[in-house]
Amino acid sequence: MYNTWEELESECKKCKKCRLYSNRTNVVIGTGNKNADLMFIGEGPGADEDREGIPFVGKAGKLMNMAFEGIGIKREDVYIANIVKCRPPGNRNPENDEATACMDYLRAQVIFVKPKVIVLLGNIALKNILGNTYGITKDRGKWVEKKQILYMPTFHPAALLRDESKKILFWKDLQEVKLKMESINKN
Ligand code: URA
Repeated sequence: MYNTWEELESECKKCKKCRLYSNRTNVVIGTGNKNADLMFIGEGPGADEDREGIPFVGKAGKLMNMAFEGIGIKREDVYIANIVKCRPPGNRNPENDEATACMDYLRAQVIFVKPKVIVLLGNIALKNILGNTYGITKDRGKWVEKKQILYMPTFHPAALLRDESKKILFWKDLQEVKLKMESINKN
């Protein structure tokens, strides 16, 4: 395990624990407030993220930023990370062994950030964090509590780009998250 952010970040940057290292430009570790109450977990970097070294800066990220703005969440107030930190070639889904190899980094990020609420963006994040019995179609929009963290599974923003009808549900889920954050901060 890692003792500090510096240790975690330097390990990530030289990581060769799976095949994804061989094509990367940048390791995409995470972005945002390292003391956030609210964290978002996506799948893995795309081409834009690989180039810039920052999660969710491409098309899906822009859509997510718009949703944040719409409901009054500031991107810089939350912490954003991914299941895998190097880009899967051609934007394919990460393989199970790649996700497993990368999981210690994400585990450490969650331990360091100590979020109260985690939004799981899409099936890959959902299944890798909560387990294979979960599925985004049946479980999105429903809170799951585990080890004192509340999880909200919702669609991956890239899915909204493919199917506009999902936008309303994504929006609804994020509004639910906003309400939860407000009630947490009151108590
Ligand atoms: N999709 C993801 O899952 N993560 C990113 O960082 C960008 C796109």
